[in-house]
Amino acid sequence: MLDGKKSLFSGMQATGTLTLGNYLGALKNWVSLDPEEYKCFYGIMDLHSITVRQDPAELRRRARDLLCLYIAAGLDPEKNCIFYQSHVSAHAELAWILNCFTYMGEMNRMTQFKDKAARHADNINTGLFTYPVLMAADILLYQADFVPVGEDQKQHLEITRDIAMRFNSIYGDVFTIPEVYRGKLGDRIKSLQDPTKKMSKSDENPNASILLLDEPEVIMRKFRKAVTDSDGEIAYSESKPGIKNLLDIYCAVTGCSVEEALNEFGGLGYGTLKSRVAEAVVAELEPLQQRFRDLCKNKDYINTVIKNNAEQASYYATKTLRKAQKKVGFPERIR
Ligand code: TRP
Repeated sequence: MLDGKKSLFSGMQATGTLTLGNYLGALKNWVSLDPEEYKCFYGIMDLHSITVRQDPAELRRRARDLLCLYIAAGLDPEKNCIFYQSHVSAHAELAWILNCFTYMGEMNRMTQFKDKAARHADNINTGLFTYPVLMAADILLYQADFVPVGEDQKQHLEITRDIAMRFNSIYGDVFTIPEVYRGKLGDRIKSLQDPTKKMSKSDENPNASILLLDEPEVIMRKFRKAVTDSDGEIAYSESKPGIKNLLDIYCAVTGCSVEEALNEFGGLGYGTLKSRVAEAVVAELEPLQQRFRDLCKNKDYINTVIKNNAEQASYYATKTLRKAQKKVGFPERIR
């Protein structure tokens, strides 16, 4: 709880370009949350980004684009706290403390670490290993009651809860124990080229993912090339993952139910389905892209948002950090 409201924290890394999957699975859910009801914090997790090697200029540009995309998607920066993780030093400081309350064995079990270590075998650094501890710090600093994350982050949320409970059991109630917040849409958007896999920003096949800033023609073309099946019938079934994915995307974008979509498309061919889904996606993304372009031009406004929100985030984060520092025995600051 913060300021009498339930608190909520989520964030994304500024690596790669956001996909339609990230948008429908995460951002659109965030936008649907009422900032009058929840105290919402959305980070651009740039400390996490450097656990794999980044080009500095590129990272900076992507982080700023991500911040503008949060706003363009509909998060009002006056009502939600949108900030760069690296601007709030409490994240790194609390992560250090929490590192001392986390066991090697726990980190060794993290499946994302194992995956990433396999993919970046030449750079298995300790930051990558303790990545979940930093994530725990992100969440616990804001006394988050809820954390909207996808399936792939659930294990990290479990460890966050374990660390928080361990700390609280020694020192009393310092941290709120967070829960996963399940959005309506979930993260079930799949690759257009292999609909058994998640749509991912790191996919090597450019036709697999719709990027949020793709031009309308590109979106149309990628949907035209989407992998389906050969039986020609539009049905919603696990045995038809390509068609199911197209229907899921359509429903997520338009807000209609699967039944409504099936009524609309019953008897039509795959070509028509693909172009209608593509049109719906273009209609959803065009205004967002326009807002994004406007925001990019409005440098002073964005700079003010960055400054004010970092200050706000620091205020809450520092409060929690000071509590934790005191509990573990660090000397009081002399003022
Ligand atoms: N690890 C998350 C991801 O890659 C990003 C993240 C970092 C995050 N810290 C967080 C998400 C705290 C939610 C809460 O998607």
